[in-house]
Amino acid sequence: MKNTVVVGAQWGDEGKAKITDLLAQKADMVIRYQGGCNAGHTVVYNGETYKLHLVPSGILYGNKICFIGAGTVILPEYFEQETNELKERGINLLNLKLSPLATITMPYHTEVDGWAEDTIKKGKIGSTRKGIGQTYTDKMARCALKVGDLFDEETLSEKIDIILPLKNKILKEVYGLKEYSKEEILGLCKKYKKIFEPYVCENWQELLYTCKNKTILFEGAQGVMLDIDYGTYPFVTSSNPIAGGASTGSGYGPSMINEVVGVSKAYLTRVGEGPFITELSDETGKKLREIGHEYGTTTGRPRRCGWFDAVITRYAALVSGLTSIALTKVDVFDDFDEIKICTAYKDIRNGKIYNHYPTNVFIHKYLEPVYETHKGWKTKLSDIRNYNDLPQSCKEYLKRIEELAGVPISIVSVGPDREQTIFI
Ligand code: GDP
Ligand code: IMO
Ligand code: MG
Repeated sequence: MKNTVVVGAQWGDEGKAKITDLLAQKADMVIRYQGGCNAGHTVVYNGETYKLHLVPSGILYGNKICFIGAGTVILPEYFEQETNELKERGINLLNLKLSPLATITMPYHTEVDGWAEDTIKKGKIGSTRKGIGQTYTDKMARCALKVGDLFDEETLSEKIDIILPLKNKILKEVYGLKEYSKEEILGLCKKYKKIFEPYVCENWQELLYTCKNKTILFEGAQGVMLDIDYGTYPFVTSSNPIAGGASTGSGYGPSMINEVVGVSKAYLTRVGEGPFITELSDETGKKLREIGHEYGTTTGRPRRCGWFDAVITRYAALVSGLTSIALTKVDVFDDFDEIKICTAYKDIRNGKIYNHYPTNVFIHKYLEPVYETHKGWKTKLSDIRNYNDLPQSCKEYLKRIEELAGVPISIVSVGPDREQTIFI
């Protein structure tokens, strides 16, 4: 296998973790390159279900180096809980490495996120309340604490003196929230240092050098349509899930990336607010939610469901440079008589047809999907392992998606388990 990025090609929850875990069999190193514990990544192996948030999805093998890169944001208590749970389940974490350049989510970040979710009515994001946007805001504003800062007392003290006065002023005067004393922050940092100590990789440059000639898998969180630059802004997350983020978030330049696998569900889901042109608010949407168990891994919120949108897939293929698609949850359609694919959008105001994704999401309320209808296969797919054994109507459906996306499908997933996979 070549060095590969696994990227979500929709609004997250496409099944990236299943595909990462699967491909990690042939990798030496798995790098999580962005996001934080807003991610909920489910891996099913040997009948056991693992829900990962910050730890890369290659961890179950035990012998793969799993590196959490500089592009991530880390909520220490969440990291502690996740690593403890994995250890209790017998997973070897000796190869789990955390970049000292990763950014720390402080309690005031989650407090402000919660404040915004509770207070803002018009234009609310529907975030995961994990302080993601606030941590990345501070990172970009150059006033965040990095994991590595915890390991040098003088640097830490100096940074807190710089950050805290302004932070407190904003917390108090803008949000009406509690201020923090330097002692409180130092106390928290002492606790965080203990949590991170077994994993922090001070010699990360050496680690990257050592792995340069090995096989690397880059694991994205969220998806292209939640990307801060290319997603449905402002209803997005605050990092770059697109494949380009794999470079900035890992420390490996673009020349190290050979393949980009875009993970797409055979339909679409979205959690949180924001436009969703093929959303189904009817019985079909409910049926997709129930059969596909579409409830958030991190927040338990019901996911909004809709038909597959080829406009989005084409867009994802462009901005992430997809070399192939992993199409997941195809089995969810086993009992459907008809399956629709959205091929374009139509503006109800003037009949204009959009074949490319209109990035101004405020006009999406005027857009309706143009659908084509495919015959369902009415066959159980979950036990099929070879492409040739798939029903003809399913093959036609896959072919049509390839044609519309302009990218070949390399993997068809017919169930949550590692084994329930067809390689093409
Ligand atoms: P991620 O965030 O992209 O890693 O995806 P999630 O783990 O949040 O959500 C995907 C869900 O679909 C998980 O519950 C997976 O176990 C499940 N899943 C993945 N692939 C398939 C598949 O092909 N068929 C079915 N039925 N479930 C799948
Ligand atoms: P994985 O990696 C689906 C959504 C939130 C919200 C928006 C911003 O499991 O695919 P944030 O907390 O990031 O500030 O919220 O992004 N969101 C996700 N939706 N899957 C995810 O991750 C998500 N991470 C964030 O619901 O709409
Ligand atoms: Mg998820």
